[in-house]
Amino acid sequence: MKIKKQTTLLIIFSILFSFGCNQKTVKNEVNIDKKVDSVLKLMTLEEKIGQLSLFTSDMDQTGAFIRKEYQEDIKKGRVGAIFNAYGAAYTRKLQEMAMNTRMKIPLLFGYDVIHGHRTIFPVPLAEAASWDLAAIELSARVAATEAAAEGLHWTFAPMCDIARDPRWGRVVEGAGEDTYLGSLIAQARVKGFQGNDLAATNTVAACVKHFAAYGAAQAGRDYHSVDMSERMLREVYLPPYQAAIDAGAVTVMTSFNDLNGIPATANRFLMTDILRNEWNFKGFVVTDYTSIMELMFHGVAADTAQASELSILAGVDMDMQSGFYNQELENLVKTGKVTESAIDEAVKRILRVKFQLGLFENPYKYCNEELEKETLMKPEFLESARDVARKSIVLLKNENGILPINKQVKSIAVIGPFADNKRDLIGSWSAAGNWSKSVSLLEGIKAKLPEANVLYARGSNIADDSTQFFAEAVNIAKKADIVILALGEAAYMTGEAASRSSLDLPGVQMQLAQKIYETGKPIAVVLMNGRPLTINWLNEKVPAILETWFLGTQAGNAIADVLFGDYNPSGKLPITFPRAVGQIPIHYNMKNTGRPMDPNNKYSSKYLDISNEPLYPFGFGLSYTQFEYGELSLSKNEISENETLTVKISIKNTGKFKGKEVVQLYIRDLVASVSRPVKELKAFQKIELEAGESKMLEFKISTKELSFYKADMSFGYEKGEFEILIGGNSRDTKNVKFLLK
Ligand code: GLC
Repeated sequence: MKIKKQTTLLIIFSILFSFGCNQKTVKNEVNIDKKVDSVLKLMTLEEKIGQLSLFTSDMDQTGAFIRKEYQEDIKKGRVGAIFNAYGAAYTRKLQEMAMNTRMKIPLLFGYDVIHGHRTIFPVPLAEAASWDLAAIELSARVAATEAAAEGLHWTFAPMCDIARDPRWGRVVEGAGEDTYLGSLIAQARVKGFQGNDLAATNTVAACVKHFAAYGAAQAGRDYHSVDMSERMLREVYLPPYQAAIDAGAVTVMTSFNDLNGIPATANRFLMTDILRNEWNFKGFVVTDYTSIMELMFHGVAADTAQASELSILAGVDMDMQSGFYNQELENLVKTGKVTESAIDEAVKRILRVKFQLGLFENPYKYCNEELEKETLMKPEFLESARDVARKSIVLLKNENGILPINKQVKSIAVIGPFADNKRDLIGSWSAAGNWSKSVSLLEGIKAKLPEANVLYARGSNIADDSTQFFAEAVNIAKKADIVILALGEAAYMTGEAASRSSLDLPGVQMQLAQKIYETGKPIAVVLMNGRPLTINWLNEKVPAILETWFLGTQAGNAIADVLFGDYNPSGKLPITFPRAVGQIPIHYNMKNTGRPMDPNNKYSSKYLDISNEPLYPFGFGLSYTQFEYGELSLSKNEISENETLTVKISIKNTGKFKGKEVVQLYIRDLVASVSRPVKELKAFQKIELEAGESKMLEFKISTKELSFYKADMSFGYEKGEFEILIGGNSRDTKNVKFLLK
């Protein structure tokens, strides 16, 4: 009885406590709104419009500087925010300019802190391959801590664009092709950046980008048009943005693309109907770089005035770098085309974020040079970067257990344009990262095996056709017991404005690989790249392949940890690797079609010249150990709409190494009012098992996992037969059916 009473008291207390917290949050929000209103009342129309402009700081050989015209605007209160400015001293100097204005409204400082600020973590696509949400949140946490210590308040991240076309260079900045995984990762990143208190000096405001569906650019060509059904938009592309907003993100960035004919930056359906009215987003919307001006190129605005009018009326609050709001809004208000209340709404959203960051209380709270000095690249940050990097590595092939390499090995040849490469390791969008401080693969191997005879040869350049280094590479390969062949793409080949029409290794790297292969030496290929590559020959010929993406400052150490067995690789691909660019779009959750592929039927959905199958499927990744999946069991064979189905499966580590496995659960809706994908990821668990250990896993399935946009575009489930598929990747699964009655 006593325990029961205590439990009851505990429950009552926790309810009151959480109510109190909510009350506190609500009270805090109400307070801020009152403060915002009191500031707004004092502002002139010109000062209000000034808050809606964001301009860049610049850099030259003398260091960071702000253009004269921007300085003049800041001093007149005609700038709300500056981006690409960081450093406690420099941001203080710029803030002082704003503090000398009539209204003394603090500037917001933003920057592209995408995967680390000074300590660079793996590129986002690599982190997605870890399927480790805690690791991903930690990465964003460290990035925010360093960024805030250098005077920054706001990062233009997370990028939440689902990407199914690896020709698109920005696939490197996101979480890959899957909506469910992408949504969870978006949430983790927002939590990491914003923490629990935006006013803390180790958090920054997040920015959900690029809203919306930028990853569906036609032909994988950056900035290209996007056209899709509302069902596709809502089912595949929108959820990660919504997840980030539900996690509390306080800003959103518009995407460059037009969506179904209307550029995002002038798209009221996106910026108001969905963002404000459906998702109840309270933060502010900033355009991408000069996007308001680009409405004229899109051909929806005849001049700067019309572009500004379309944008502000769509619900876009802040103008990044076009300067059109400053130029046109006052006249648009005077001519009645735009109401002052529309301007007020935008200003209030921006002021609210500045209050949330604590900038009105102390505009210089993030300009602390002492904090800056003691924070950047702390040893524990470097260790975190190494750990997240290890977890992001995907083992694609390991024939005859060539990996891990025995540490007693006598001589190793480290060959390739990425063997002694530091610059490319930190990838694109590496912010204030200093590539000279990254650990190269060669350095990582030497540090791991100080006694071994480590030979090095460049072998080739990354992208030119020079074969002058081949002979030297072949020569040292012949002298070694094993060859580590480091191949890939240059960092600039992914990221913004980096679409490729081919997914092959650039330059003569494949020819180099063939020359090394002809020596007959055992080879382990280490790939460094920001997108899936069509490495069919390597997959066929080379015994071991590690996908290491761009792992950041600690890349060399992390790869050496895996190569020599100090860490058993556990990554899984967050994006499909095609066999050929001609298969694109190719992703795991395709439709069955009315003529599903049948090798014996010409008239079925397939190619004349290649399989429908990818080179490596979504969710794929090997381990140095092996995992055996037991039979799938269900708590019931059928459930009603208000019941939960319990799914059980045992996993056994049947190999010699302790290892981690990402157990993935997919669901297929076999018959519905619209055709449904052959499978969709709905849950996963990353578990660690000692050699020989087994574990029973449980998953819970309810109608939440079965819902979709039906034929009438209502969101919900439909009764009928479903299939559950569980496995260590999206292809090799154990399946069982159940009925929703
Ligand atoms: C760029 C990118 C965007 C970035 C912004 C500011 O063009 O599209 O992702 O945040 O401009 O650098």
